[in-house]
Order: sequence, then C-alpha cells, then structure tokens
Amino acid sequence: MFIRPDDAVALLDSAEVVGVPTETVYGLAARIDKPAAVEKIFSTKARPFFDPLIVHVRDAEQARSLVLEWPRVAEVLAARFWPGPLTLVLPKSAAVSSMITSGLETVGLRCPRHPIALELLRAPSAPFAAPSANRFGRTSPTTAQHVEDEFEGRVPVIDGGACDVGIESTILSVVMRDGRAELQILRKGAISASQISEVLHRAGVPFHFSEAASVAAKVQAPGQIKHHYMPAIPLVYADGSSWTEEQITKELVKALPRLPKEVQGVKLEVNQSTFLKPAQLGLPSDPARAARLLYSELRRIAQSGADHIYFLEEEIHRTEPWQGIIDRLQRASIIKLN
Ligand code: TXA
Ligand code: MG
Repeated sequence: MFIRPDDAVALLDSAEVVGVPTETVYGLAARIDKPAAVEKIFSTKARPFFDPLIVHVRDAEQARSLVLEWPRVAEVLAARFWPGPLTLVLPKSAAVSSMITSGLETVGLRCPRHPIALELLRAPSAPFAAPSANRFGRTSPTTAQHVEDEFEGRVPVIDGGACDVGIESTILSVVMRDGRAELQILRKGAISASQISEVLHRAGVPFHFSEAASVAAKVQAPGQIKHHYMPAIPLVYADGSSWTEEQITKELVKALPRLPKEVQGVKLEVNQSTFLKPAQLGLPSDPARAARLLYSELRRIAQSGADHIYFLEEEIHRTEPWQGIIDRLQRASIIKLN
C-alpha cells in the first residue's frame, strides 16, 4: 500500500512500521521510543535479534542526544557527509534501547539525505530505527514497488522514487583511546576510507584506521554476515578472466549438493538441481551508476525467467570506488569461483 508522508508520521506515532525512501535503499522504519514498533521490524523482516538496527536522525544535534560522547571526529565527519550515506557507530546513551543495538553498548547513527526521510525526521516525532526493507538475507529494495513486492503489500510505503545511491551506507566505528580516534570501516559503501581520511587530515583531527581483520571487528559487526542481499535465484561470482558461461553453470550444479541449508540464519536452499538458463549481470563501468542499478538489476533478472545469474569480476572492479558493490555481490552469491 502506498501512503503519503503525513500518513506515515501518524502511523509511526501509533507504533506501526512504514517503508521509507532514503538515498541509499528503502528502510523499514519504527520510532525508537516505541518498543512494540521496533519489535515489529524484527518480526516483519524475520530478522534475528542479534543483528542491530541503524538509528536515523534529523541532524548532528539529535545524534548527540543519543550517544555518551560526541568526539570531534564525529562532528567533522557529520558536518562534511550528513545528510548522506555515512553511519557512525559510537557509545550509546540510555535513550537507545538494547533491542535496537542487539545488546551492544554502541549505536549506529546516520542522517539520510532523501527529502522524504528528512521530512519525517523533522516532523515533531522521534528518530527512527530503520534496516533495509527486505526479508532478512535478501536483496535490498531501491524502489517503493520493491518494498510492495517484498512484503506482498503488507507494509505501507511512501513512494520517493528510485534511490540515488543504491547500496547501503558506509558504516564507520569510532573508538576514542587517549584522545585519539581509532576508526574502522564495518561496511563498505559510497563513502570511501580515502574520503574519510582526507576530510579528517584537512581538519587536523588525530585518527588512525585499524584493520578490519582484528578480533574486535567481528564482535562489533554482527550484521556483517557471510550471505546477505541474496536474489531469489542463485548468483555465482566468478573471476572474468578464467571462467566461461558453460563452466560456471557446471560448477553451480556440482556445488549445490554440498551447500549447507542455512548459514547464520540465512537460507541457502535452492529448489532445483538442473540449470538451463544463465543470465549475466552486467553493470555500467561508472561505479556510482552501477551501485544505483545493482539491486534493481538483481531483482529484474531473478524475475526474467532465467534460473541462475552470474557476475564476472574484471580489472576495474578491483579499484576503491567499486568496493561497496563488490562486497554486496560477494555476499549475495551462493558460490565464488576464483
Ligand atoms: O543505508 C543504510 O544504512 C540503510 C538505510 C535504510 O538507512 N540501512 C541499513 O540497515 O542498511 P541494515 O539493518 O540493513 O544494516 C544495519 C547493519 C547491521 O547489520 C550491522 O552490520 C550494522 O548495521 N550495525 C548497526 N548497529 C551497529 C552497531 N552498534 N555496531 C556495529 N554494527 C552495527
Ligand atoms: Mg539490510
């Protein structure tokens, strides 16, 4: 059901969940001060409670009211990138419930750039928590129709057009140690580590990036699970210089019986054993355009009559601006061929 922003505010106020456009992907929003609504996010998505939600705020001032400390790094990054696709993970205040953060002492905060999301946040309402508006583990929605299809019309959604960025926000963890900021990218997105570094260097803020491979990263990013964003038919990720279409199909057939039924709560079950109709996922060479098209294309191909999808990794995909897209494709794939 498509609704207007006014109706959405009323529904949010009465502890309902609504589909909201953001510049990255459509979100499934609930007011953070309505526990019943927050719980409904998890049940609607069939999302496990170990996967924390991002809280959306109208500006940096509102963000400050939800954290224990708001270091200069956060101030500088918010001033440069908000509203926009950057989520900052900081120690949470008591205003954020542990249901939202899955029991973590930190909260992910972001100010979205889409005018409709901002309109809702500026209404005399509360900040809202919003994960991507898809069933857990599946392809994220980038149009209101995707949200309609995903939940078969059961979730009211505002139509704000196709999302401009197309993949989820960059998530940056900020840990203060002796006045120095330790940063870690927990999820790659449109805003890169180089852009973040450049802004902080220019502002003269002391910081360093720590390796994503550290033990702490695993604890901090419970949502960064192995399989995610999966389309309705199997996707194979292959190195374009060594695999042909015929070989890819053969490898998929060979691999299926050995796949686990479920990984970290995401079902991998494929209800067919023969594959006859491959379709290649082609993306434009400009990464901003590619990100914008990624999820729509995965959904379109899955409904086109093809029975499996493959993506061929090429040289250009190894450059920094592609890393958010490549991360999504690798997690969305059922097997990876090197
Ligand atoms: O672009 C976006 O961020 C979109 C739109 C709707 O704003 N939202 C989104 O939410 O991608 P979701 O639920 O699909 O992804 C949230 C992820 C979690 O899976 C987890 O990896 C990370 O954000 N996250 C949230 N809170 C965290 C925290 N306190 N510490 C570490 N990671 C956190
Ligand atoms: Mg998601």
